[in-house]
Amino acid sequence: MHAFRCDHTMTSERPQRATAAPAHSPAATPPEAARPPGPVHKPPPEGVYLRTIKSYVLRAGRMGTGQIKAFEQFGPRFLLPFTPHQLLDPAATFGRSGPLVLEIGFGMGDATAKIAQARPGDNFLCCEVHEPGVGALLKRCGEEGIGNIRILQHDAVEVLEQMLPAAQPDGTGALLDGVHIFFPDPWHKTKHNKRRLIQPALVAKLSARLKPGGYLHCATDWEPYAQQMLEVLGAEPTLANASTDPALGGYAPKPDYRPLTKFENRGLKLGHGVWDLVFVRRAPAA
Ligand SMILES: C[S@@+](CC[C@H](N)C(=O)[O-])C[C@H]1O[C@@H](n2cnc3c(N)ncnc32)[C@H](O)[C@@H]1O
Repeated sequence: MHAFRCDHTMTSERPQRATAAPAHSPAATPPEAARPPGPVHKPPPEGVYLRTIKSYVLRAGRMGTGQIKAFEQFGPRFLLPFTPHQLLDPAATFGRSGPLVLEIGFGMGDATAKIAQARPGDNFLCCEVHEPGVGALLKRCGEEGIGNIRILQHDAVEVLEQMLPAAQPDGTGALLDGVHIFFPDPWHKTKHNKRRLIQPALVAKLSARLKPGGYLHCATDWEPYAQQMLEVLGAEPTLANASTDPALGGYAPKPDYRPLTKFENRGLKLGHGVWDLVFVRRAPAA
């Protein structure tokens, strides 16, 4: 089995602390008068934990001394705090305006650093939960002076829900020009498939945060996951497949900006496949 899997994703599910639903979330409790008659769902009391399915599991990875130093030295410049219920201000965050790309799960950040260097005019908001990976990308940002990356060491799904606004019905208000999800954990076993990131609910949330014309780019080397991606992205009515060549069966040629990783190159040499998918946010109906 060649599918890419980060080695820190092998421990069991962790409980998640219950937090109040944000005011803009559909899960927020409606005001008293608007509630339908029937049993009232009370939020769990403070300190009660809810189990939610996460797309990752954390394992205490070993941090190298360089990575530990990078947190101290470069953290203040490149790390962003997770601020629940407080929307991101991209211009203030990056110190300039520019197209904003969200990356979910950058691993050790090699592709992220290369893409940011190749696209100096774009700003990259990069989420990863794996601490050594965050340390590794911090080190690169600091040492190579990659000023257009900011890192959030937090669950990207919560970042999306709590820090990035969904577009208004007329399409205004969204902040994202692009989303990158490269080689997300494939969760091979059927009983773990529910942990996969690319599911209808998340794709709808991502699409709602893309500007009209903004893109969602996924890549995977696990064919069953590629098929699931194609199905889920194709079923999202606000997205259109950018790949229109019938010969490609809905998949996209690898865009030039996505560098070949060492792992991917090795797999390709062994004849293994990699599938890219690029979908674009449709303009809202007039
Ligand atoms: C298989 S690795 C791929 C890493 C990288 N994209 C690459 O191509 O080398 C998937 C990464 O996604 C991260 N991840 C999974 N779910 C995440 C989430 N909800 N928020 C942030 N990171 C997540 C994992 O920690 C892991 O490092």
